[in-house]
Amino acid sequence: MGVEFDGLMRAAAGIGARSALEIGTRAGGTAILMALSDMDVTTIDLVSGYRDELACQWGVGDRIRFVQGDSLSAATIKQVGQASYDLLFIDGNHLAADRDMDLWEHAVRPGGIVALHDIHYNAPDSAVPAFWRHLQQRRPDVEFHEEHIEGGYGIGWFIKR
Ligand SMILES: C[S@@+](CC[C@H](N)C(=O)[O-])C[C@H]1O[C@@H](n2cnc3c(N)ncnc32)[C@H](O)[C@@H]1O
Repeated sequence: MGVEFDGLMRAAAGIGARSALEIGTRAGGTAILMALSDMDVTTIDLVSGYRDELACQWGVGDRIRFVQGDSLSAATIKQVGQASYDLLFIDGNHLAADRDMDLWEHAVRPGGIVALHDIHYNAPDSAVPAFWRHLQQRRPDVEFHEEHIEGGYGIGWFIKR
């Protein structure tokens, strides 16, 4: 994951990203990578698997805000509050990446990055590859980028207009 994530982190550095919103925390692996890339991270997960002690070991505990909630619910949107993020990383419910995009893209500033994990993860519990293809057809005006290493599932992103 670390290597596959590098391209996205280089793109984030390229736009001077200082803040990120993540959907899907799990233990906090990608949240920690984003914090190590100089971003303050708000990360949302349905369940409380986030390991704050791990983030502290990496010296970024104070850069990560964990919000427990359903990213698809109005209550979570209210709890996260109004903010303008430089990067949105969608890695939550892989059957609902389209809904996460609809609900959270507004939180990214123009010129910021909207990213999806697992764009090549073809499995019954994932609609991300189909959604990624759909996005590319629906938005011919934006430039799509992706990083896909052998054994990985691919990360795709575009710059929000
Ligand atoms: C693939 S894992 C995230 C991995 C993490 N980004 C990383 O790479 O370190 C997906 C996570 O999304 C969470 N999730 C699934 N549906 C969600 C929802 N509707 N709202 C918030 N989190 C959700 C799951 O609990 C799970 O922890």
